[in-house]
Amino acid sequence: MASTAMSPVRGQAGQAEDFVIRVEDLRVEFRTPIGVSSALDGITFEVPRGKTLGVVGESGCGKSVTGLAILQLVPLPGIITSGRVLFRPHDGSEAINLLEYERMGADMRGTRGKNISMIFQEPMTSLNPCYTVGNQIKEAILLHQTKNHKEAKERAIDILQKVGMPNPERIFGSYPHELSGGMRQRAMIAMGLSCTPDLLIADEPTTALDVTTEANILELMRELQQEIGMSIMFITHNLGVVAQMCDDVAVMYLGRIVEQASVEEIFYDPKHPYTISLLRSIPRLGTNRKEHLEVIRGSVPDPYTRVSGCPFHPRCPSFMPGICDKVYPEALHLPSSPQHLVRCHLYNDLNHQEVATSSGDKSS
Ligand SMILES: Nc1ncnc2c1ncn2[C@@H]1O[C@H](COP(=O)(O)OP(=O)(O)OP(=O)(O)O)[C@@H](O)[C@H]1O
Ligand SMILES: [Mg+2]
Repeated sequence: MASTAMSPVRGQAGQAEDFVIRVEDLRVEFRTPIGVSSALDGITFEVPRGKTLGVVGESGCGKSVTGLAILQLVPLPGIITSGRVLFRPHDGSEAINLLEYERMGADMRGTRGKNISMIFQEPMTSLNPCYTVGNQIKEAILLHQTKNHKEAKERAIDILQKVGMPNPERIFGSYPHELSGGMRQRAMIAMGLSCTPDLLIADEPTTALDVTTEANILELMRELQQEIGMSIMFITHNLGVVAQMCDDVAVMYLGRIVEQASVEEIFYDPKHPYTISLLRSIPRLGTNRKEHLEVIRGSVPDPYTRVSGCPFHPRCPSFMPGICDKVYPEALHLPSSPQHLVRCHLYNDLNHQEVATSSGDKSS
């Protein structure tokens, strides 16, 4: 019988690869006066070492909260209610459950920036308006890389140049409010990359940038990845960037991962109706210009209201009454591609049939 447990993507070769981060059954709730929102409802995935995992899904599905939860930075009233975040350092030592660290304790603070850094969706979240950009990058380098101030400054200027800042020496002495939105975003990318982390969580890192700068930044990330074996968790709405950057993709909907597979399978053989709809809603070269782009009908339900059965069923073009609105779908490994996971009742039957056929059992 094919496994129905939600186990993580294990790399394209189908073998258990060395992971840098493994998230297990992670749950986050926001307890507010108007109710409880399950921002993450038990998600499980891995980011293999040296690889890039793309995380996609509509606004509000929990992408940023996933990144923040890994670093124990979920803002109040959000709380991590259960799960594990296993981090495996590159020296080959035992994996550590980061959620066992005290949120603001020395171990967790030491891990942030040094081992795992995050480029936040909102640049001003991580840039301190009271300090120059250069000093903030230099501080991060001094904390984790070298104690030599001159060397730290040189490295900071070098990384500012690498992210395409014009006149990096001048930018080094500028305050965040003196920079444009795109420059602030690049300053934050420079800060994230300056410590050569094991894992970079990049949350919409290039949304405020023009396409040329975006291409340069993506190239820089790839270079660093090859140089130091950095892993990347790339959170984005831009499926074009996913195609360019990612090895594997996790598709999220309402705090859950509904499909996980290699980037090729997500683009060429998507299974979940939600993934299929997402892909149909992006423009493609070569399609008839008069054809309308498809939109996903309806909108993401209010996160404070629980939807029974599959949370996508009210919007799903393949909705099966009596099943999809009643039963929450298990995550299934496709028998034809065991690393491909999907949470959809459409594949339940297929799964049982294929398993039954392959085992010679005709009774089911
Ligand atoms: N500060 C907060 N207070 C209350 N609820 C929150 C807060 N931050 C996030 N949430 C809840 O968590 C859910 C997931 O939010 P998250 O920011 O992870 O979405 P996202 O997928 O990153 O969206 P986007 O694409 O717009 O950035 C939201 O739907 C919201 O209900
Ligand atoms: Mg977000």
